[in-house]
Amino acid sequence: MSLPGRIVAQGGRARAFAILPLVSYRVLFVTAEYAPLAKTGGLADVSTALSRFLHGRGDDVRVFLPFYRRIAEQSLALAPVEFLQNLELRLGPHLYRYRILTGAAPGSELKLYFVDCPALFDRPGVYSADDDEHRRFLALTRAALESAQRMGFAPHVLHCNDWHTAFGPLWLKTSYAWDRLFAATRSVLTIHNIGYQGVFGAEHADELGLGDAAWLLHQDQLKAGRINSMLHGVLYADLVSTVSPTYAREICTPEYGLGLDPFLRSRGDRLVGILNGVDYDEWDPARDRYLPIHFSRDDLTGKAALKRAFAERLGLRTGPGTMLLGLVSRLVTQKGIELLPAVLPAILGRRDCALVALGSGERQYEEFLAALERSFPGRVVYHRGYSEELAHWIEAASDAFLMPSLYEPCGLNQMYSLRYGTVPIVRRTGGLADSVSLYSPAHGAGTGIVFENYDAAALRWAVESALELYGQPQHWRQLMANAMAEDFSWQRQGALYIDAYRRLVGPD
Ligand code: ADP
Ligand code: GLC
Repeated sequence: MSLPGRIVAQGGRARAFAILPLVSYRVLFVTAEYAPLAKTGGLADVSTALSRFLHGRGDDVRVFLPFYRRIAEQSLALAPVEFLQNLELRLGPHLYRYRILTGAAPGSELKLYFVDCPALFDRPGVYSADDDEHRRFLALTRAALESAQRMGFAPHVLHCNDWHTAFGPLWLKTSYAWDRLFAATRSVLTIHNIGYQGVFGAEHADELGLGDAAWLLHQDQLKAGRINSMLHGVLYADLVSTVSPTYAREICTPEYGLGLDPFLRSRGDRLVGILNGVDYDEWDPARDRYLPIHFSRDDLTGKAALKRAFAERLGLRTGPGTMLLGLVSRLVTQKGIELLPAVLPAILGRRDCALVALGSGERQYEEFLAALERSFPGRVVYHRGYSEELAHWIEAASDAFLMPSLYEPCGLNQMYSLRYGTVPIVRRTGGLADSVSLYSPAHGAGTGIVFENYDAAALRWAVESALELYGQPQHWRQLMANAMAEDFSWQRQGALYIDAYRRLVGPD
């Protein structure tokens, strides 16, 4: 697994060179989402950026994901893998036929492997509320492992993501343990969000195909009639990672662990937190492909021009002193949307402030934002739905970005905001705590507004503080400059995954 080598200068003597081996890994990376092909949230961004980072440094990373209908509709240049056609997969009484298609990821040379199983994936969305939802992802995980076998691909690391692929580690230790190909394979489960655990009925146990090893399923839960996918990943992965150090600590507590905290605590140092990175090829105000005007830390004139253009496009009545708040989010409990009704109407009514919000999700939150738009014409614009383009515009044109999350494993938008000089207003939890620090006017240090308590009073304080600072241009400029100087690139964060892999499988 060593690449030819990298030439480095030794000591200070420019003429003396040594060849240092660069370790590279074979990684079987299995995920339910991949940007921009199939994205509902940050899992997609991270799957794409991390796999590209690995590929870029010379790892042989093979990404497996479902061939969803929405991917089939994108007319990508894909080819069937010759020896991976017309395959059978048995999950208990269910027999599926599938094949593997392959092709480069958009804008990259990294090859993706798509599990084409129409019976499971030719459906409207990425996720479904269908009875066989769990089976769709059991099939993905099994298909990835069996394709690796047929390709003779011996991964050093099986990297699973979230509940969808969380049975990979247990299967590696049981159903596939006979295969020498996997003798040295170690498994990683990355928890992107413990709020979704993939619980299904115990009557489906035989679909796991564990045979004599079925006793390894969590027996108390089985007796209670359920099987929890994420739990089995937590129990059997050689390493469990999650997407920020603070969230790694939080999920070990009953408040954030959502029932899995005792199991996570029992993993000791086999649970690590690695903050996500940002793909600055996608999210950089100096070259953002969705924006007609660019800007940077050294020249912010473009940001002001974008704000004016955006306000005009959306019909917002904003003056030079209006603070524009942005929100881009799945509208679910996790994101703290329930705090907004007690805070925003009063502030919008009293202060020179406007809001542009993008997102969809739970009905009551959509209705609240739609009603807010009606109550504050020209001051609030709500776009219900999903739009990459609008998401980039909101990041670029807003002055501040709202992320009052109840919990946040990592969060990406606050890090995008930092790079765009859009001051994040966040609650101190999970990755928000690890990526944004409270601005101190006395010291001129800090990158955003951070509040502690999950309540309306704390959020109100945070938004009012932002307005105060916005009214003091020297502070606001300092805050923007601090924010824009932050670096969460994958070059840094990806290296931490390499450390984790190395710890698991050794340097060679
Ligand atoms: P989560 O994964 O919990 O939704 P993250 O902050 O990690 O939260 O990632 C969310 C990602 O999804 C970001 O890239 C964000 O821009 C994007 N996103 C969320 N909602 C929308 C939307 N309505 N339109 C476009 N992009 C969205
Ligand atoms: C999840 C989390 C989010 C995280 C993303 C990518 O969806 O909710 O906080 O950034 O996964 O890891």
